[in-house]
Amino acid sequence: MAQRAAAVRNIVVTGGGTGIGRAVSLRFAEDGHRVTIVGRRREVLHATVEQIKAEHGLDVTPVVCDLADPDDVEAALSQLPDRVDVLVNNAGSRELAVGAGPHGMLARWRGDFERNVLTAVLITESLRDRFTDSGRVVTVTSVAALRGGGSYGASKAALHAWNHSLAAQLGPQGVTCNIVAPGTVAGTEFFGSRLNDAELTRRAGRTLVGRVGRPADVAAAVVFLASPDAGFITGEILQCNGGELLGR
Ligand SMILES: NC(=O)c1ccc[n+]([C@@H]2O[C@H](COP(=O)([O-])OP(=O)(O)OC[C@H]3O[C@@H](n4cnc5c(N)ncnc54)[C@H](OP(=O)(O)O)[C@@H]3O)[C@@H](O)[C@H]2O)c1
Repeated sequence: MAQRAAAVRNIVVTGGGTGIGRAVSLRFAEDGHRVTIVGRRREVLHATVEQIKAEHGLDVTPVVCDLADPDDVEAALSQLPDRVDVLVNNAGSRELAVGAGPHGMLARWRGDFERNVLTAVLITESLRDRFTDSGRVVTVTSVAALRGGGSYGASKAALHAWNHSLAAQLGPQGVTCNIVAPGTVAGTEFFGSRLNDAELTRRAGRTLVGRVGRPADVAAAVVFLASPDAGFITGEILQCNGGELLGR
């Protein structure tokens, strides 16, 4: 049977310097695509660029940008590809150390929406005119959007609602917009020191497969939804959590 030649695509991965984003970036680079990684910390991005070069012989391009800051996003646009085949909105975080009372609540809620919603919305809206006619937007949310995550879960759930309208708006031009919602994933910066052995064991016990996720598990789901073969799937949420939502 004849092999289909895969076209080289322009891929932008936010939060591509660490964790899940780095695994996603490596998968796309290994498949021969041109990958741009975006994050706030220049040194982290450059370390990832060098590591991927040294260990895999592959090039990825770093762009330093705070995606929650509209001025920064505008300034970064000139460094991003003119045509974007795939945007992976992966950047996001959760800050637990905020004060008490209404001011603490305001900081927590506003912060979670800035860290997780605006980091996806500002860049996606800014790149809207650059998506190719088989473009893909894949946004990383969380199982917390459905299962008790306070302001963090609420911010990820907001992305689910946003993705639905985005899919409706971009669908006529051939662009699909989908979500990957991971459960617990070890080996990233997300939990800091909170994910000790006891916590890992507890979380693994909540899944049906007896382990927490790896960045590569999530990368595989993202790569599938970004593939040409997934062109008839849009507005969807793909849970990637080892059955954690179902529980035992
Ligand atoms: N690990 C898990 O268990 C888990 C579970 C469910 C969902 N998720 C989601 O998965 C995504 C990736 O997380 P991860 O686990 O891989 O954690 P991570 O290692 O902390 O990755 C987050 C990345 O996002 C970047 N980032 C954060 N805020 C940014 C901003 N304002 N502008 C630009 N870049 C920003 C960070 O780089 P800089 O700090 O340098 O900007 C970092 O590279 C997040 O959206 C997270 O909510 C993770």
